[in-house]
Amino acid sequence: VTLLDSGDRETDPIRHDRSEALFERARRVLPGGVNGASRLLSPYPIAMTRARGSQIEDVDGNRYVDFHCAFGSVLLGHDDPRLRDALVETLDGHGVTFATSHPLELELAEKVCSLVPGAEQVVFSCIGTEVTYHAIRLARVHAGRRLLLKFEGNYHGWHDYAYFNVRYDIADAGPDGDPRPVPSSGGMGDAAADVLVCEYNDVEHVRELFARHPDEIAALIVEPIYHNGGVVMPEPGFLETCRELCTRHGTVLVFDEVITGFRQALGGAQSLLGVMPDLTTFGKAIANGYPVAALAGKRSVMRDLAPLGNAYYSGTFNGHLLNTALALRCLEILEADPPYERLAALGARLRDGIARAIADTGVDASIGQLGSVFSLYFTRRKLTSYRDIVRHSSGNGGALQAAYQRFLLARGIYLHPLGYVIRGYLTDAHTTADVDELVIATRAFLEELCK
Ligand SMILES: Cc1ncc(COP(=O)(O)O)c(C=O)c1O
Repeated sequence: VTLLDSGDRETDPIRHDRSEALFERARRVLPGGVNGASRLLSPYPIAMTRARGSQIEDVDGNRYVDFHCAFGSVLLGHDDPRLRDALVETLDGHGVTFATSHPLELELAEKVCSLVPGAEQVVFSCIGTEVTYHAIRLARVHAGRRLLLKFEGNYHGWHDYAYFNVRYDIADAGPDGDPRPVPSSGGMGDAAADVLVCEYNDVEHVRELFARHPDEIAALIVEPIYHNGGVVMPEPGFLETCRELCTRHGTVLVFDEVITGFRQALGGAQSLLGVMPDLTTFGKAIANGYPVAALAGKRSVMRDLAPLGNAYYSGTFNGHLLNTALALRCLEILEADPPYERLAALGARLRDGIARAIADTGVDASIGQLGSVFSLYFTRRKLTSYRDIVRHSSGNGGALQAAYQRFLLARGIYLHPLGYVIRGYLTDAHTTADVDELVIATRAFLEELCK
């Protein structure tokens, strides 16, 4: 594929000179020129400066419809005026952080517990990685065991407990059906000794692992909807079996709802799918892009957190006043005027438009969509696991995805490529015109591919 994947100045109708220059500068003071590996784009990242509603603007003054939405954190739209008001109100006459108890965090806790079926108690911190870490440690304390069962491709943040088999070469994990844990970063010591890995949706293997380790598995952590793989749904019976096995074996079931939480439904994926975890983690959309994360769950498990229990939990910025106020306002807005039907209708319009373009052009592709999350796959096969995705859909080892991203960029659409999958998000600020722009550009891309 050569289609615009080089960032060629001759063929690219919009300029990114300042982004390019900033990247040159950044390489001297930021390792690799970026603040985290997932920020890197080829040939250089586009530096953004401001965003409003569904629109985002780069440092060269180019405007895009944003379908990246900060990895799905932004749900109401960028710079929502209602949240801006909450920010100003909170700043006005207050300090911003006390590192003490305060009434707003209690209000937020009551709100989360009233909205999420599996939340009897909750604690707050700042990022998703932090709360999945605490969920696993809490589960280990609660169960008095070490082993963690996780699924290939599911991402729970970068800590040593769970950063296994995330983005990696499946050949490294041995044959299908019984993958071994492969750390996705160096420096993770011997953490693999405490991890069991399974393919997503492989119910038989989950059963087998519980049979092999009947009283040893402390926690099973899973993305109830595998959004790190785009839109991969749990097969009927998969989560139900996980629930049943966890109950039978005294294992803590953790739903990682960092993406699905408040984005797919007010009560999270657990309310859509009707399976109740013991613990749930939230982040991203809970505060429309402000850094808030939550660990919620059954009182009987949560009570093992410090100070009552032996799972230490602390943090200077836990319940940070600004973030707490914004999360609370965000949840109040979502509760008063739930956007989920509007988002589902917009998502369906996008899905139908792209599905028609795929059918008309005959390209071997498909579109996955659930509510406000969508994913374009370069295959028509049904995909149920990480292995399926990397084998069948990465699109010339990711070149096709990069070409698509650059094609969209040149047409005023921002979609951040994720290496092995293309995943995009809608916000309540996106319009049918925004969605139609993406459909038209995608059709044009697919037509180019057929030439
Ligand atoms: C499902 C899931 N869990 C946890 C995380 C980690 O969250 P954070 O990046 O805020 O640390 C992510 C991030 O993308 C995620 O998608």
